[in-house]
Amino acid sequence: MITFGIMSLNLESENSYINEIACHAESLSMEVFRFIPSEINPHTLLVKGRKFNPVTKNWRDCEAPIPTIVYDRCFYGEDEHSKQCLPIVTWLKSRSDIIFLGYGLPNKLELYQVLKNTPLSSYLPQTQAVLDVDSVLSELTAKHKVILKPINGSQGYGIYYLKRNEKTIHVKTEKQKRIISRIFPNEAKLVQWLKQLLKQRNYLLQPYLELSNKEHQPFDIRTLLQKNERGQWKEQGRGVRIGSTGGILSNLAAGGSVITFKEWITSLKPSKGEYIQQELDYIFDILPSTLEKNFMPLFEIGIDIGIAKDGSIWILDINSKPGRKVLLFTNPELKDTLYTKPLLYGKHLFETGPTERKVYYEKTLSH
Ligand SMILES: Nc1ncnc2c1ncn2[C@@H]1O[C@H](COP(=O)(O)OP(=O)(O)O)[C@@H](O)[C@H]1O
Ligand SMILES: [Mg+2]
Repeated sequence: MITFGIMSLNLESENSYINEIACHAESLSMEVFRFIPSEINPHTLLVKGRKFNPVTKNWRDCEAPIPTIVYDRCFYGEDEHSKQCLPIVTWLKSRSDIIFLGYGLPNKLELYQVLKNTPLSSYLPQTQAVLDVDSVLSELTAKHKVILKPINGSQGYGIYYLKRNEKTIHVKTEKQKRIISRIFPNEAKLVQWLKQLLKQRNYLLQPYLELSNKEHQPFDIRTLLQKNERGQWKEQGRGVRIGSTGGILSNLAAGGSVITFKEWITSLKPSKGEYIQQELDYIFDILPSTLEKNFMPLFEIGIDIGIAKDGSIWILDINSKPGRKVLLFTNPELKDTLYTKPLLYGKHLFETGPTERKVYYEKTLSH
């Protein structure tokens, strides 16, 4: 029986998703073992974790060898436990006897730097590392509206919109589903605030794109691409996330809502809808192979696409550990498919062996 390992930073994370995967395993002659990287004993190569019992549908504590097939669902923060686990995961990824479904992606800035030299460059918002306060001020003067986001961010956390008015500067962010707005009366006050912000974490800067609909709600298209049981990339579906009126984020974690892609695209003029469809098909067709050519093998990616008021199309974000909420909401019939795909691809990898992979030195808290 193949053991399908699921690795996360705590044994309660994504319980409903991981339980569903576990319930689908037996019919594929697989068993599921979940564990935390920091529980690996480096001497014995055994790890304490929980094995799923398909009869009782319960998890039982046990110690077992590190599974050969690992589905990595570790979401790192800036906390000590994340910092402890990251080098262990990097070590696991370097072992040739362990096969990861996907090896993750680097941070947003490294992704940009690589993708800007590919045919996808015209879809990428111009992105630069924030090195100091002065670079933010000069970009703000040049562009009037900019976005600051953490290089290692996710779920819309810590994203700031900055707008220069004649004398004042308007800063907006969203925290715990609320829009927080602040007006700085002059540049000196903004500089004080920026200095503090930039001390906390590394940021990147992008021009602010007008990604809102007619109701002034920011929105984006979220697509899930996954490999199937033969290792071929397939699109699982698309949904449209809509944020709060006057807000800046369309992330669900920020309190957004969801509509189907069909509902959204049919609300556009047919010629515009057709154009956008073609562009999206092109992006989704070449993105997975472009990523795998430049980085490590992947199993799935979630892509956030922004459509600006002028019709321009932007790749905003690529996640190697995507959520499934949008798709389960817009395409509930995909439920069983979404819960069996990781198992099927894991089985494929087990049977065919790992794809050749480059040596990977992880520098950042992002994979
Ligand atoms: N350059 C930008 N201009 C306007 N809105 C943006 C820009 N970048 C991101 N956003 C908004 O912020 C959201 C989160 O940004 P994203 O890059 O996906 O970061 P995260 O990893 O936190 O999800 C996007 O879904 C979009 O609504
Ligand atoms: Mg995102």
